[in-house]
Amino acid sequence: MEQSLSDKRDVVLEACDLRHQYGDKAVLRGLNFKVAAGEIYALLGGNGAGKSTTLSAFLGLIRPTGGTVRVMDQDVTEAPDAARAKIAYVPENVALYEHLTARENLSYFLALAGADASASRIEAALEAAGLAPDARGRRVGGFSKGMRQKTAIGLAIARHAPVLLLDEPTSGLDPRAAADFNRLLDAARSRGMGILMVTHDLLGAAEIADRIGFLADGRLEAELTAEGEARFDVRALHARYVRIGQTDAAA
Ligand SMILES: Nc1ncnc2c1ncn2[C@@H]1O[C@H](COP(=O)(O)OP(=O)(O)O)[C@@H](O)[C@H]1O
Ligand SMILES: [Mg+2]
Repeated sequence: MEQSLSDKRDVVLEACDLRHQYGDKAVLRGLNFKVAAGEIYALLGGNGAGKSTTLSAFLGLIRPTGGTVRVMDQDVTEAPDAARAKIAYVPENVALYEHLTARENLSYFLALAGADASASRIEAALEAAGLAPDARGRRVGGFSKGMRQKTAIGLAIARHAPVLLLDEPTSGLDPRAAADFNRLLDAARSRGMGILMVTHDLLGAAEIADRIGFLADGRLEAELTAEGEARFDVRALHARYVRIGQTDAAA
């Protein structure tokens, strides 16, 4: 197979000169990046940097004021439903039906998506997502944040969505739950999912991300790529993180 062809086919998310304003406030000012299948891309940036807005653009929840966003070669603005069908989204606060069990939630959402909602598929997905067997039949109303996220990841796995978007998935998790969660993402990547994760978890990003983008002033200030087995140095990341966006402030 031709290299250039497979490279192109492997790109699952692409932002091209992405711009967005809320009113006259410019939040994204020409953002460019790509995420490939089987890759974890961590998007870092301070509060208000535009990270959630970037995810909203991929989800077709906002109409960008300029540039394009593509999901598996579909322009999101042109075909928002087709784009959304490819994406599993884990927001900061996962919305589930509180009075339903984890299994029932998957069954409901899979049926809604027109996907196979068989018991065996649901069980396998919740198993892969690491939700304990005894939790699967309990109402999600009593679930911790980590359990809710496992339920949402279970839904993503059951839907066979090729793309996963996560908004600060490990904020508010204790270190063990965060490490647990990152292992889950690692497994999803091994299955070929393309993953875009917005995070403040530098340690987690250093351990599992293939690439890290630093968002500042509505653009990518830097993009770092992990080289083979050598992951990122968390101290260097931290030093860079506290510096991003400070050039303007200092001037
Ligand atoms: N719906 C909205 N209307 C107006 N301003 C918004 C809206 N959503 C976000 N913003 C503003 O846009 C900026 C970027 O927000 P957001 O993308 O949520 O940042 P992040 O997720 O990086 O913290 C912030 O200044 C925020 O206040
Ligand atoms: Mg946000």
